[in-house]
Amino acid sequence: MSMSLTVTNLVKKFGGLTATNDLSFEIEAGQSVGLIGPNGAGKTTVFSQVMGEHRQTSGSIKLGTEEITNLSTPLRIRRGVSRTYQVPRPFSDMTVAENIRVGLMPDSVLGMILNSPNRDRELELALSVGFSEDDLERTPAELSMGDLRKLEMARTMATDPKVLLLDEVFAGLTVAEIAMISDLVQKMRSDGMTFLIVSHDLKALEPLVDTAIAINHGSMISQGSYADVITSDEVRASYLGEA
Ligand SMILES: Nc1ncnc2c1ncn2[C@@H]1O[C@H](COP(=O)(O)OP(=O)(O)O)[C@@H](O)[C@H]1O
Ligand SMILES: [Mg+2]
Repeated sequence: MSMSLTVTNLVKKFGGLTATNDLSFEIEAGQSVGLIGPNGAGKTTVFSQVMGEHRQTSGSIKLGTEEITNLSTPLRIRRGVSRTYQVPRPFSDMTVAENIRVGLMPDSVLGMILNSPNRDRELELALSVGFSEDDLERTPAELSMGDLRKLEMARTMATDPKVLLLDEVFAGLTVAEIAMISDLVQKMRSDGMTFLIVSHDLKALEPLVDTAIAINHGSMISQGSYADVITSDEVRASYLGEA
C-alpha cells in the first residue's frame, strides 16, 4: 500500500537563521519528487523535520491521512517513513548484518540484543541492495562509499517504509554504483514506494522523479515538472549565486 506525504507551512528557525521558510508541498502516494537547491538551501532540514529529529518551529506534517507532527522519531518510522543520511552513519563496531538488524528493530538496541537475529530477512535485505552473502560479516571500515550507501538503503528498507527520503544518495559514488542505486530506486518505485530525493547529481536524479521542488534560503522557488523547474529563472539564478 502506498502512502502520501504532506508538509504544510513548515518553518524551522535555528536562532536567527530561517532554515525552512513556510514550506508547503504534497507528494501523492507512489509519486517520486526531487528536492533541489544550492548548499544550505534547507533540504536536509526538511528531512530532519519530517523524521522528527528536529522539531519544527511551526507547521504540520501528515503521513497519509495521519498527522505525525508531534510524534517521536521511532513512532514516525513505525507509521512508515524512513530516511537515509547524506553522510552514511553505520554503527562502526557492528557488521553489515548487525547494522541491518538495527533497522529491523529501530525502537531499541536492547530489543535487538534480546531478539534472536532474523538471518533470512537480513540476508534478503542485503541481497536486495546488491551485497553478497559474504558481505554480511564485513564491518563498515572495510566498505567503499558505494557499499556504505547500499547499507544505508538496506537499513532503511528494514523498517518497511512506505515513504522514503533519500539525502544525496549519489554523492561519492562511481558510475557503476550510481546505476546500481538507480535500478534499486526504480524497482522500489514500481512497487509503489513514495520518494523524496535530494541529489546534486541532476543527471542521475532526473529519471527517478515525477516532479521537482526547488528551494533556496528555505523558501520554495519553483515547483512542477522536472524540466520546468530546472530551467526556471529562479533556479538558474539560485545556482549561479552559489558560485
Ligand atoms: N543543527 C543546526 N543548527 C544550526 N544551523 C543549522 C543546523 N542544521 C542546519 N543548519 C543551517 O540551516 C541551513 C540549511 O541547512 P541544510 O538543511 O543542511 O541545507 P542543505 O541540505 O540544503 O544543504 C544552513 O544555513 C545550515 O547552516
Ligand atoms: Mg544537505
